[in-house]
Amino acid sequence: MPQKREHKGMEKQFKRTLITTALPYANGPVHIGHLAGVYVPADIYARYLRLKGEDVLMIGGSDEHGVPITIRAKKEGITPQDVVDRYHSIIKQSFADFGITFDIYSRTTSDTHREVASEFFRTLYNKGEFIEKTTEQYYDEEVKQFLADRYITGTCPHCKNENAYGDQCEACGTSLNATDLTHPKSTISGSAPILKETKHWYLPLDKHEPFLRKWILEDHKEWKPNVYGQCKSWLDMGLQPRAVSRDLDWGIPVPVKGAEGKVLYVWFDAPIGYISNTKELLPDSWEKWWKDPESKIVHFIGKDNIVFHCIVFPAMLKAEGSFNLPENVPANEFLNLEGDKISTSRNWAVWLHEYLEEMPGKQDVLRYVLTANAPETKDNDFTWKDFQARNNNELVAILGNFVNRALVLTQKYFDGKVPAAGKLTDYDRDTLTEFANVKQAVERLLDTYHFRDAQKEAMNLARIGNKYLADTEPWKLAKTDMDRVATILNIALQITANLAIAFEPFLPFSMDKLNKMLNVEPLGWNCLGETNLLAAGHQLGQPELLFEKIEDSVIEAQVQKLLDTKKANEEADYKAKPIRKNIEFDDFLKLDIRVGTVLECTKVPKADKLLQFRINDGLKTRTIVSGIAGYYQPEELVGKQVCFIANLAPRKLRGIVSEGMILSAEDADGTLSVITTAKNVKPGSEVK
Ligand code: MF3
Ligand code: ZN
Repeated sequence: MPQKREHKGMEKQFKRTLITTALPYANGPVHIGHLAGVYVPADIYARYLRLKGEDVLMIGGSDEHGVPITIRAKKEGITPQDVVDRYHSIIKQSFADFGITFDIYSRTTSDTHREVASEFFRTLYNKGEFIEKTTEQYYDEEVKQFLADRYITGTCPHCKNENAYGDQCEACGTSLNATDLTHPKSTISGSAPILKETKHWYLPLDKHEPFLRKWILEDHKEWKPNVYGQCKSWLDMGLQPRAVSRDLDWGIPVPVKGAEGKVLYVWFDAPIGYISNTKELLPDSWEKWWKDPESKIVHFIGKDNIVFHCIVFPAMLKAEGSFNLPENVPANEFLNLEGDKISTSRNWAVWLHEYLEEMPGKQDVLRYVLTANAPETKDNDFTWKDFQARNNNELVAILGNFVNRALVLTQKYFDGKVPAAGKLTDYDRDTLTEFANVKQAVERLLDTYHFRDAQKEAMNLARIGNKYLADTEPWKLAKTDMDRVATILNIALQITANLAIAFEPFLPFSMDKLNKMLNVEPLGWNCLGETNLLAAGHQLGQPELLFEKIEDSVIEAQVQKLLDTKKANEEADYKAKPIRKNIEFDDFLKLDIRVGTVLECTKVPKADKLLQFRINDGLKTRTIVSGIAGYYQPEELVGKQVCFIANLAPRKLRGIVSEGMILSAEDADGTLSVITTAKNVKPGSEVK
């Protein structure tokens, strides 16, 4: 059945819907943030349209190019292909386990993708849609390689953080260009990179700006405010040409002469992956999904992908000329975890494969909670407490409880056969009208990508049922009025059958189970709201519990796991001090390290970290200020022999001239311990 959609005041009809989901980077497993932001909403939408009998494709795949994958490979001493092979299969499995119904889940290292992406580039190239520019980029002479921004660290010009990355300073959050950094350093060799000329192809977004302004700002006012707003602010800042190639040895080679050593920029090839994967699935009919004006494209993504899907990819498609542009891009904001940003590298996440091991069979609980808490309009927080509460107070107490009562009572009084309804009361009729209205409400919300409200409406149907049974108390009437009990249970069972439809997109595993308990084949969406879905006399299946209560101990174990991660991260932060680059022996000889005897040691006034030493260095008495007050009482050091750098240029600390530096060892937790000698030696002895 064709779908109707408000469109610039007209109703635009579509024959089919192509749903794409952001291709996750295959450099780590997927976590709840992925599921909440992209894959659960996309799957709800796809299941909903399929239930309505519409023509739908849901396309997914792994994004297997890009610098982070090469970094991970380097770190682990394996090839980038090893990295993506490992994570592609883990990711694919997780999605399958959570019931994400992709029609295809492929990868950007596939042959089809390489061909389609190369072809796409060549088409734009031949049409003259690129500009070529030569610029200066950082180059590591030691490893003979241009450096991606992420391979460069240096001092942030804003906050002076010495470990800022070439694209961003994580200390102050500013986004940077590698050339903004002072003291840039290659993370590959540790050397200072040089600037070297390199040629790249650019997509002139500025040229497409007038088109994009109209297409988004005027023709797509219905897009979600967070998406529309981000697009508007990009457009208002003015668009610049964007490089679509990189100097890198991992990716799809730029398919033109004179491009040796260059690959397509990952953000150029990845969205083309949607097209390649459609083609891989349907080699003969893929084009109608992308080019027929009666096909609708919807991109499900997270907010960090908005510019690529609303501006860059549409500009690419427009430049190519034969493709449709997306009808909508319902991007979500981010999901945090217990108050902190989810981070793959810091293991701050609930990994889907681990969740399933620890909570077997509870896919729907997570789907439910992530939808109930979906970051649709703002960032949201996942907490285990909320997870438990939503399971116990909503899934168990409302949905599960209602369904269970309806089925168990029917089992008890009517041997599991649907009883015939008798005369309806006003209250019965009101209840029926009320739940007949749910269909329209859920549809309106799903059609406009309001998944959390849609799920709430579905839950309302269960609430209506629960209240109906609580008010009519059929268990009390069983002795006196079996006709009335029959009517009540008939209505309760019709509501149950409706729930099995309304919840199918949200809780597919549980609704499968419910359909078995009802002993029916899954009913289509268009049956939703009908009051005679189960005929009198229909034999039901065996009732089972749909959901079970989650105990405190289970939640506490999850919280403890996160606390352990937090602790491990804090420790790793201290340990993250790798051995520095080799030096020559001559460099070592420049350091003059000596032993001295501590004559006096006092606290420096108003400086809680500093101690002031008077030291016999063999020739004279020298003053050294050292930041170890937190670890020693001054008197315990008097008489000790310490090691110090004797030729460090004098520096003033708190008004005191410090003539050298006392050496200490630093523990993983930051505790300092002064270096002393195993035997007493003559003051002034050299340390070598
Ligand atoms: N890999 C990207 C990310 O995780 C998303 C790519 S979406 C696509 O942010 F359109 F490029 F495929
Ligand atoms: Zn900074």
